[in-house]
Amino acid sequence: MPVPTEDVFRIEDLRIRAGKKELLKGISLSLRRNEILSAIGPSGSGKTTFLRCLNRLTDLEEGLTIEGRVLFKGKNIFDPETDAIELRRKVGMVFAVPMPLPMSIRDNLMLPLRLQSNSLEEDADGRIETCLRAAFLWDEVKDRLSLAATSLSGGQQQRLCLARSLMVRPDVLLLDEPCSGLDPISTAKIEEALQGLKKVMSVVLVTNNVKQASRTSDRTAFLLMGELVELGETGQIFTNPRDSRTGDYVSGRFG
Ligand SMILES: Nc1ncnc2c1ncn2[C@@H]1O[C@H](COP(=O)(O)OP(=O)(O)OP(=O)(O)O)[C@@H](O)[C@H]1O
Ligand SMILES: [Mg+2]
Repeated sequence: MPVPTEDVFRIEDLRIRAGKKELLKGISLSLRRNEILSAIGPSGSGKTTFLRCLNRLTDLEEGLTIEGRVLFKGKNIFDPETDAIELRRKVGMVFAVPMPLPMSIRDNLMLPLRLQSNSLEEDADGRIETCLRAAFLWDEVKDRLSLAATSLSGGQQQRLCLARSLMVRPDVLLLDEPCSGLDPISTAKIEEALQGLKKVMSVVLVTNNVKQASRTSDRTAFLLMGELVELGETGQIFTNPRDSRTGDYVSGRFG
């Protein structure tokens, strides 16, 4: 029986190895409801690996050994009876490079609904509007939903991908450096969107921009070489870190 829990995810001693190399060295943390949790750390610290583990995208990689438990709503996602496709519906993901499919804006948004066989949305147009508004894109595309998604700017494409991930009403949204290629205005729109989204879901934001973590997230986790060095309220991590390595990283003295 699933254990009732206030936390959406509870990660217990998560270890990932590729051969002899340890990518994650025993990570334990919880993701709360309605929070934005940032994961920061230098390149190669395991942020993407950690994120991909949460919706089992790591299944798609050969040669990884995973130990520990990842409880999503009290149930271990690595249990044989967990359906990875169903998990990925509840735990959506937005990648660094926007990947709209070569079809219209509307069809990009409809695709996740069409793939979800068990429930056909009655009011698809209403859902599209809601998700585009949540992604701060509605006003820019409402008159051209039948145009190719690839005709949008990079920043608009990223917001479209965000809207697309919302169509199936996920409980958790994973974002891997979603603003890395974006200008400050598009970045601000994504950050504003996340503030709205956390009212209805939990967000894990991997970012290599520490300022983005500090202005956007409720709590921040600092990873270094596969180790969770420190996790705390974002204010504490940035003003009063317990570990000197965290202080060095957030103040830019690292390396
Ligand atoms: N499938 C794999 N096999 C072997 N090594 C891997 C694999 N995936 C990731 N790694 C290694 O694990 C380490 C962590 O990688 P990861 O992509 O998680 O880092 P990251 O913190 O996201 O870095 P960046 O900020 O550059 O995106 C790196 O050294 C990487 O080369
Ligand atoms: Mg990465």
